[in-house]
Amino acid sequence: MSETLFIGKNRIELDSIDSTNSYVANLLRDSNVIEGTVVTSHFQESGRGQRGSSWESNPGENLMFTIVFKPNFLSVNNSFLLSKIVALGIYNYLESISIDDVYIKWPNDILVGDKKICGVLIENQYKGTKIENSIVGIGFNVNQVSFGNLTTATSLKLLTQQDYSLNSVLDNLLSHIEAVYLRAKSKNSFEIEKEYLQNLLYHDEFKRYNLEDSTITGKITGVMPEGKLKMELQNGEVQLYSFKEIEFIL
Ligand code: BTN
Repeated sequence: MSETLFIGKNRIELDSIDSTNSYVANLLRDSNVIEGTVVTSHFQESGRGQRGSSWESNPGENLMFTIVFKPNFLSVNNSFLLSKIVALGIYNYLESISIDDVYIKWPNDILVGDKKICGVLIENQYKGTKIENSIVGIGFNVNQVSFGNLTTATSLKLLTQQDYSLNSVLDNLLSHIEAVYLRAKSKNSFEIEKEYLQNLLYHDEFKRYNLEDSTITGKITGVMPEGKLKMELQNGEVQLYSFKEIEFIL
């Protein structure tokens, strides 16, 4: 599986850039960018992660890329569907190369066991109640084997002791993401929501989580269309948490 219909047909390959997401944001401001455009870079000087964190990668060892989507079938109210689509596409790719123990950690980290192999940063631009552009940045650890102090990271090479061609991993990732995207666009998204939940870390299990100044025990029962985590507490009460409010304890 590596031919695509539209994702990656237009590619911009950079050697070094501050951040592929920022590069795409500028491109969208200055020109007409076709849907499916992919920007890759061998190195990012200030790669950005979620919650204002940074994303570090050795030059040329991992994939750092951004896909431009124009998901006008999504409104502000169900914008999180794109996160689910992308996470599921990455999950399906890892499954296709027989990597076991893969989980989606809400909102859209991809873990193998308890280590992170891939992070996703989605930045949406809205027009009225619709998403006009979605800037989907993906950092996927491929051939890097040493992550310094970061003990929570892994890569394909650490998992399988093999070297990978970055281009072929990219092609395969893009085609798996496209397959899920096209499914969501043409059909009811019910199946995608179901598959996302089936592969979601700690779904339907009571676990402890950190809140700002307390810890709670709760069971993830769903993810709302706009992205909030739905949690059932031990007393049966249902609570919704936004990304900034709750932290997993792995
Ligand atoms: C996270 O897990 O915190 C998200 C990490 C996203 C990293 C990717 S690398 C390509 C793109 N450009 C960026 O600056 N960030 C994303």
